[in-house]
Amino acid sequence: MKVLLINGSPHASGNTATVLDEMKRVFEEEGVEVVLLQVGNQALRGCVGCRSCLKTGKCAFDDLVNETVPLLAECDGVVVGSPVYYAAPNGTLVSFLDRLFYSSGTTDKRMKVGASVVVARRGGLSSAMDQLNKYFSISGMPIASSQYWNDVHGMRPGEVAEDGEGMQTVRTLARNMVFLMKSIALGKEAYGLPEKETRVWTNFVR
Ligand SMILES: Cc1cc2nc3c(=O)[nH]c(=O)nc-3n(C[C@H](O)[C@H](O)[C@H](O)COP(=O)(O)O)c2cc1C
Repeated sequence: MKVLLINGSPHASGNTATVLDEMKRVFEEEGVEVVLLQVGNQALRGCVGCRSCLKTGKCAFDDLVNETVPLLAECDGVVVGSPVYYAAPNGTLVSFLDRLFYSSGTTDKRMKVGASVVVARRGGLSSAMDQLNKYFSISGMPIASSQYWNDVHGMRPGEVAEDGEGMQTVRTLARNMVFLMKSIALGKEAYGLPEKETRVWTNFVR
């Protein structure tokens, strides 16, 4: 089993990193391999909607996005962590995820387990988490949940460690995710992936 952890914070040792580290510890205890990607401190541009990826199968901007697609293809689960910026995920992370999910349309993501975790000083966590979960819910990816929404509170680097309930929530999330990934692996062996219909595209025009 392998999990991809994506840190959307510009701070490689900030609060999001502390939270992802806590989850990494649980994954490793459970025998799950972890690949950590530091995204928020990279100079990554947003999607320009050129749609060349629909023809070539990769993003026209050849950067970390294209390097990540094989990691996405081989993992059993993805955790996206972000600081909350104006009640939303960090902008660089959103640029990265828009391009990653759009350009990897031919990579089958069905039944890879997704989870998002968000950190903030005070507010806007639910809307940020909802936005991140949208990448999973459009991709046939079951979303793991925990004992509470995956919010951890803190401002200065490392302060999240003092949020005992938040840290427990993300440890529980990691354990639930491992259970789901193992269950899905057994299910795939027993029943295979669900049948896939030829895609219908309806654009609400005459
Ligand atoms: C541009 C900017 C916007 C922010 N917006 C919010 C916000 O909407 N709500 C909040 O509670 N904290 C907000 N914060 C605080 C961060 O979410 C918080 O400090 C977080 O712990 C930083 O995580 P990091 O150390 O992983 O980067 C904002 C910080 C910055 C720099």
